[in-house]
Amino acid sequence: MSLDSYVTLGRSGLRVSPFTLGTMTFGEDHGWGSSPDESKSILAAYLGRGGNSIDTANIYTNGHSEKIIGDYFAGQHALRDRVVIGTKFFGNLYANDPNGGGPSRKAIVQQLENSLRRLRTDYVDIYWLHNFDPATPVEETLRALDDLVSAGKVRYVGFSDVPAWATAEAATIARLRGWAPIIALQLEYSLLERTSEGELIPMAQAMGMGVMAWGPLRSGFLSGKYSSTTTGPVDSTRTQLVGAPSEADYVVIDALNAVAREVGASPAAVALAWVQGRPGITSTLVGARRMDQFKANVHALDVTLTDTQRGALDEVSAPTLNFPADNNRTLAAMLQFAGATVDGRPSIVSPLLRSSDARY
Ligand SMILES: NC(=O)c1ccc[n+]([C@@H]2O[C@H](COP(=O)([O-])OP(=O)(O)OC[C@H]3O[C@@H](n4cnc5c(N)ncnc54)[C@H](OP(=O)(O)O)[C@@H]3O)[C@@H](O)[C@H]2O)c1
Repeated sequence: MSLDSYVTLGRSGLRVSPFTLGTMTFGEDHGWGSSPDESKSILAAYLGRGGNSIDTANIYTNGHSEKIIGDYFAGQHALRDRVVIGTKFFGNLYANDPNGGGPSRKAIVQQLENSLRRLRTDYVDIYWLHNFDPATPVEETLRALDDLVSAGKVRYVGFSDVPAWATAEAATIARLRGWAPIIALQLEYSLLERTSEGELIPMAQAMGMGVMAWGPLRSGFLSGKYSSTTTGPVDSTRTQLVGAPSEADYVVIDALNAVAREVGASPAAVALAWVQGRPGITSTLVGARRMDQFKANVHALDVTLTDTQRGALDEVSAPTLNFPADNNRTLAAMLQFAGATVDGRPSIVSPLLRSSDARY
């Protein structure tokens, strides 16, 4: 695999790299990110290897992440057009302003104008709804986004961290109204967080949405710096945010470290390769606070897991899913004995249940 093995994102013609550069760590506003110089070096290294997809958000380091990206591309307009820049709206950068963030029409238009100013560009390639707001009518959000697509300021629309039922409703409304479709989802997905396999990933597969997986190293738990036998301080800026791995996490972490030793690669590279090889995942968001982390992570491109190694990781990290996932998996097996078959398969089982991966 390479960063220029581009793949289409969902039911769209937009081509993105199999690893998208996450830039939540760009900027120093929160006191834990990379300096502008180091961020730009990481950006250059990513682009130099053929990477074309960059992810940011208005809220990342309070706008500093977007500004670093904008400054990088400012003198290079031709290069800006060659890349896919995604940013997000929702996070409120204005204390005491109830309309400073969120998904209302007023808030979206203002947030986009501010993001375009920081990014020093005329348009955003993917504009992501960052979180779920049950209070705003989804038609208002979708219509505002569609207007921005018509105005040429946004190319594509994505949803992040929104429940499956609300996303499916929104996608259906957009389709029936002829509004800009939701072409992709962002969701947390890693060896330590697989519950999206219950609803979100099957929905994305069924409705033609690409998936960009965030948190693939579970904020560093899967990077190799943790193991059940390691003692002493860990080189991490995230512990205040996410704490330390649990006993159950260490079972998965130790198994990952063992597979990585067998493969001869870093646990980070193996964890990223595992995510990118999972059903339904289009592009994995690679996060790095430092250049050495970025270099270790792009080694994922060189990792090919055997079926046995992948099977071992699948099994040790198997999630407990919400109803009706297990119920339907059991029924799918029973349906083999009920009713008609087509080409030897039960005729009423959906393509998703027929997948070789039994979880779907
Ligand atoms: N849509 C959403 O809601 C959402 C949410 C979160 C993130 N995202 C996107 O997804 C991207 C990736 O998410 P993430 O940052 O949570 O991913 P992650 O890969 O799970 O965590 C990245 C962190 O892991 C550590 N790390 C990374 N590579 C390492 C290595 N080789 N060796 C040791 N430690 C390593 C670093 O932590 P230390 O700083 O502690 O060293 C780094 O900041 C973000 O940049 C952002 O673009 C989206």
